[in-house]
Amino acid sequence: MAENGSRPRVIIDCDPGVDDAIALMVAAAPTAGFELAGVTAVAGNLPLDDTFRNARSLMAFLGKHDVPVHAGAARPLQRDPVPAIHHIHGWNGLGGLELAVPASSARRGSAIDHILEVCAEGPVTLCPIGPLTTVARLLEEAPEVASSIERVVLMGGAAFVPGNVTDTAEFNIWADPHAAAVVFDAQIEKVMIGLDVTMQVGADPTWIDALDEAKHRWGTAAAHMLRGYNSGSMALHDPCVPVYLDRPDYFNGRRCSVSIDTEESTRFGQSVANPDPQGNTLVLTEVDPDAVRAHVAAAILSASG
Ligand code: BDR
Ligand code: CA
Repeated sequence: MAENGSRPRVIIDCDPGVDDAIALMVAAAPTAGFELAGVTAVAGNLPLDDTFRNARSLMAFLGKHDVPVHAGAARPLQRDPVPAIHHIHGWNGLGGLELAVPASSARRGSAIDHILEVCAEGPVTLCPIGPLTTVARLLEEAPEVASSIERVVLMGGAAFVPGNVTDTAEFNIWADPHAAAVVFDAQIEKVMIGLDVTMQVGADPTWIDALDEAKHRWGTAAAHMLRGYNSGSMALHDPCVPVYLDRPDYFNGRRCSVSIDTEESTRFGQSVANPDPQGNTLVLTEVDPDAVRAHVAAAILSASG
């Protein structure tokens, strides 16, 4: 709860993506202890047209017609765009789950305007679960917005464990390290939910079957998407973010200063975390995976349909 007793307002910046889709389900669930004030799409797992379409179709499927969905950055700040990773997220990015796409008047590139509007109304928790391009652009175009961002709770990085794209880099950071550097350099409180914890939270077949067998519209859709998710580890990376917002007690971390390696080398896109009591990033390093999985399933199955 925020100080005045109202629910924290949250914007999720995503690139759906199967695990993004599960994260949106958790955030849209009636059990969520925060207000979802917007969803913004960014290029990452797939090009922007696809992630924007998926974000809109997911929010419509979840019945969240009141939550605005806006398109953000279509390409990284400096590096070449990364190719779509259909081999992990399926031909349409949702593990092959086909959803109706609602007509939408949302404009391309309107994500920054939307975030600024929400920030003008009071403190916001910004939750990027894709590359950090839109957030970096926001901070560059309107640096004063930093004072309205209560904190950034992001999925990305690998602090004390290997990367998942290269030996040292995690996908969301590697896909736009220059943007990540802007965000990590900003004077804003951050919680980094990286591979250190997310690789420990896998979706095993029994857990997926249970979602399906509940004969619940959201659960069946989640199971369909997860069966088309070929990440190897089956890690529920992005859902850790909305779970953390409600249950930080499932996690533990170390306060660090984090810098991003943007040099063309084998460490391109590495998130370098140095333990530092004055650092403005809490790097999560420990997690209770069973508790997180149980929370995700309970949230999904809490919806009325
Ligand atoms: C991150 O990369 C993407 O493929 C996932 O959606 C997640 O946000 C994990 O490295
Ligand atoms: Ca993602």
